[in-house]
Amino acid sequence: MVIKRIGLLTSGGDAPGMNAAIRAVVRYASYKKIEVTGVFRGWWGLINEELKPLDHRSVSGIINLGGTILKTARCAEFKTEVGQKRAFDTIKKHAIDALIVIGGDGSFRAAHEFGVQYKIPCIGIPASIDNDINGIDTTIGCDTAINTALSAIDNIRDTATSMERIFVVEVMGRSSGYLALQVALAGGCEEVLIPERKFDLGDICHDIVNGNLRGKISWIIIAAEGAASAEDIAKKINEMTSLETRPVVLGHVQRGGRPTAASRRLALSLGQAAVDSLLNGEADKAVALNCGNIVTVDLELASQKKKLDIDSFYRLIKILT
Ligand code: F6P
Repeated sequence: MVIKRIGLLTSGGDAPGMNAAIRAVVRYASYKKIEVTGVFRGWWGLINEELKPLDHRSVSGIINLGGTILKTARCAEFKTEVGQKRAFDTIKKHAIDALIVIGGDGSFRAAHEFGVQYKIPCIGIPASIDNDINGIDTTIGCDTAINTALSAIDNIRDTATSMERIFVVEVMGRSSGYLALQVALAGGCEEVLIPERKFDLGDICHDIVNGNLRGKISWIIIAAEGAASAEDIAKKINEMTSLETRPVVLGHVQRGGRPTAASRRLALSLGQAAVDSLLNGEADKAVALNCGNIVTVDLELASQKKKLDIDSFYRLIKILT
């Protein structure tokens, strides 16, 4: 199949670096003499025909911006047969030959189902702060989110040390503990609670009290949102140890901001790879960084639950505490 026009959309939670990926797709496609049609608000834009041609100039000045100029959404209607049929009608009406979908595992699942059912070549570009996409080393935006959380934790450490308090800091990540583990390790935190590993609050409080007796004056505990709520944990620690404990929920702060160099570089390479993958006749794939190389993996495989190597990270956090 000859690809003359690509539909490009961002879907699910935004991630810093999505704009850099949009820029790379549009400019590399233009270099290859292929048109790009931007689809607004993810799958919703295909259903509701919110499209606009994108050229070299329309992606100027966005490489440094968080969020996505195409807007993004979570679209329940696209899960229905009626929604998908309407999206397909839009694709035909606008002579779109293939789709590039920038998003996370949920967006990949939708792209896989839709592409197979309607025979539309779909290529995914992994972008999510969660880094929970299977078969892929890292996602666009994850490095930025880690650094954003880290900067908040460095600030919290100042007040934790000065006022000799315990802090429980809740970070995002949905059902994955990846973000929490990286933040805990790089932030020199004392404990991390993640969904992939059972924890015993009694043991943690025992360590805190023992540490306190040895003169350890402050603790920062990272709680992945999928494992525990900072507020609950802080309340229980306070009850169990009588030590002053404060909860902090970082929330959506982690999703915004200027993408780091690592997030931008990844986005630019994957944007180019996605266009090349379509030109090579591939479909139903995600482009990915895997063991340092840019490769393609099946969308279906990428949508499955990613197994996290937690033990080595967790052990190191505890040894270094
Ligand atoms: O998947 C990205 C993410 O930021 C998760 O870390 C978080 O659980 C979720 O999105 C929040 O989604 P929403 O912004 O729709 O509440």
